[in-house]
Amino acid sequence: PGSDARAGEHGVPTVIAHRGASAYAPENTLASIDKAAELGFSWVENDVQRTKDGELVVLHDDSLQRTTNVEDVFPGRAPWKVRDFTAAEIARLDAGSWYSPAYAGTRVPTLEQYMRRVERNHEKLLLEIKNPELYPGIEQQTLKLLGNEGWLDRGHLHRLIVQSFSADSVRTVHELKPAVTTAYLGKPSVAQLHRFAGFTDLINPSYTSLTQGYVSTVHAFGGPHDRPLGVFAWTVDDAVTARRAAAYGVDGVITNKPDVVRAALGGD
Ligand code: G3P
Ligand code: CA
Repeated sequence: PGSDARAGEHGVPTVIAHRGASAYAPENTLASIDKAAELGFSWVENDVQRTKDGELVVLHDDSLQRTTNVEDVFPGRAPWKVRDFTAAEIARLDAGSWYSPAYAGTRVPTLEQYMRRVERNHEKLLLEIKNPELYPGIEQQTLKLLGNEGWLDRGHLHRLIVQSFSADSVRTVHELKPAVTTAYLGKPSVAQLHRFAGFTDLINPSYTSLTQGYVSTVHAFGGPHDRPLGVFAWTVDDAVTARRAAAYGVDGVITNKPDVVRAALGGD
């Protein structure tokens, strides 16, 4: 097992479109993953949370306020937390107008809708379990949905990575489905790496904290699938930073502007 997002040895990191191609279309919507596909990118990243009535949806913030018109539709419901709204209520919201009038009417996708579009677009997914402390059991529920959609089948596993800022959540995913490629978001110490290498395949730190020495340190560890731990850096949106990350030897670059990173790095 193992995802195919490993280009480190050949020098060109994999480019991952962060929340879709989110510099060019509203983040975490079907439009943003269509845009990534249109630009010729196969890997997209998203954020998964849960509604009041238990539906998995794709949204970054724990509140609907920034990226939808929830304040207009439900004015009395501040602070508009995802977990306080039903899936039917969220389905009424406009998740595109805040970005541009050209995207008016774009919806917050359910994870099921999102997975079907990823499949239709022949894309690959870096799925982030966001705020898992707010959603007990979200790891199991996410894996169940992925399984129902065929994403845990042998032929699909190379197209999927599950990540979280919560080490507990990453470990839970690994324990529930050991064949799934996992990533921990952050920059663990060497002592932590000794533990985390038991359940995570990748370490994904912010580029702001990255050094060449740290990338080499991570690569020296073997992960749960008998491959060296990988490193994806986020969120890199300019050519200079992309080239620096590549020179450090990262395996992937997570970016809102995949075209800018590709132009800087060459390769695909
Ligand atoms: O994939 C890395 C990145 O998404 C982590 O930060 O806040 O954008 O989810 P955030
Ligand atoms: Ca994310």
